[in-house]
Amino acid sequence: MSASDPSLVRTAAELDEADPLAGFRNEFVHSETEADLIYLDGNSLGRPARQSLEAARALLDQQWPSRLIRGWNEGWFEIPQRIGNRIAELLGASSGEVVLADATSVCLYKAAVAALGARPDRTRIITDDQNFPSDIQVLRAAARTVGPDHEVVVVPTDGIHASLDGVRDALAGDAGDGPALLALSQVSYRSGWCWDMAEATAVAHEAGALVLWDLCHSVGAVPIDLTAANVDLAVGCTYKYLNGGPGSPAFIYVSSGLPQMVNPIVGWYGSDDPMGFDFDAGPALDASRFLTGTPPVLSSSPVGPAVELMLEAGIDRLRAKSVAMTERFIALVDEHLVPLGFEVRSPRDFQRRGSHVSLSHPEAQAVGQALLHEESVVPDFRPPDFLRFGFAPIYLRFADVDEAVARIMRVVEGGGIDRWRDAAPIVP
Ligand SMILES: Cc1ncc(COP(=O)(O)O)c(C=O)c1O
Repeated sequence: MSASDPSLVRTAAELDEADPLAGFRNEFVHSETEADLIYLDGNSLGRPARQSLEAARALLDQQWPSRLIRGWNEGWFEIPQRIGNRIAELLGASSGEVVLADATSVCLYKAAVAALGARPDRTRIITDDQNFPSDIQVLRAAARTVGPDHEVVVVPTDGIHASLDGVRDALAGDAGDGPALLALSQVSYRSGWCWDMAEATAVAHEAGALVLWDLCHSVGAVPIDLTAANVDLAVGCTYKYLNGGPGSPAFIYVSSGLPQMVNPIVGWYGSDDPMGFDFDAGPALDASRFLTGTPPVLSSSPVGPAVELMLEAGIDRLRAKSVAMTERFIALVDEHLVPLGFEVRSPRDFQRRGSHVSLSHPEAQAVGQALLHEESVVPDFRPPDFLRFGFAPIYLRFADVDEAVARIMRVVEGGGIDRWRDAAPIVP
């Protein structure tokens, strides 16, 4: 491919040669039967690390069968806190502020209801249409739980860039009624828009609202400092850039400065004495009070080693590589794919972009299916018309970026769209 753009001045081979993270690729499992697979969906489900699979096997082959119930005294019981404290290091949070728990949606519900409870005189939750649709459903459910007057205000965007002014106006409201909560995804699942977390948090705080961030698409890809940004609450998943495995548990962050936050789904694991079997037990003091039931030991087992790899790689190096990859991809798209009907639907300013790039195309779903079935490239499709290409810097090479673009060209120019127009997969 030619190099008419500054992002393309160095060849992919030169960049891979100079990549300080290159060695991490071998820490992950790559199927031998699909050696040419280019996996660009790590923003939906990350690849397994070898050590994660070993941890899961050790649990299934040894700990559970041989240790049985004794396993709870040999490390299982503290899993939410132990892994939570390691994730906290990726979030700029302190020990005791993060626990591994439930699905993201459940954590979001708990955090939203807790926030509304802490702002009893206020009824509005502000979010935007870049937020994950399920998050908006959950926020509406939280609003219904707390009271009939509560409502969720969804700020419209241009579909690519979020709007701080729009959020500021929504926080201000019409009738001077103060907002209770601002709940946003730091990186949008749609366009990859990345908020300046500290700036948006400050705007919400000025309006007297609490702030709840969804970090699903940013944790492991973007530097996060919840303490510096003065964030109240956050949730995120571990199965995307953290590579924790399909359905691995989420995490919840509760600032240690907000002891008034009450978990709305109280249960024994969130109490100060889970094994006291006392129905009058009080809540645990730290973020552990947001736990409810028995920790998912099986699905947590791959998470710990995967998080260790992220910490070892270092978020600043991961971010630098991610930015270089998405910049390169966009430059190649402009050169080779825009003439074929694609449009970049992600922010062009890398500071406002996470680690995936969205491209629209009138036949996006057919292009995605053709890539999957004919060219061993895995992106994902999101209705109505865009494909997301996720660049997980810990296991991808710059050569993958170039090769993916070459294969997309081949699919479109070779009639792949006609062959896959009628495919309708369950998971797009
Ligand atoms: C940004 C975002 N928030 C929330 C969710 C929902 O997560 P869960 O299904 O683990 O509740 C997802 C899932 O992909 C997501 O991408």
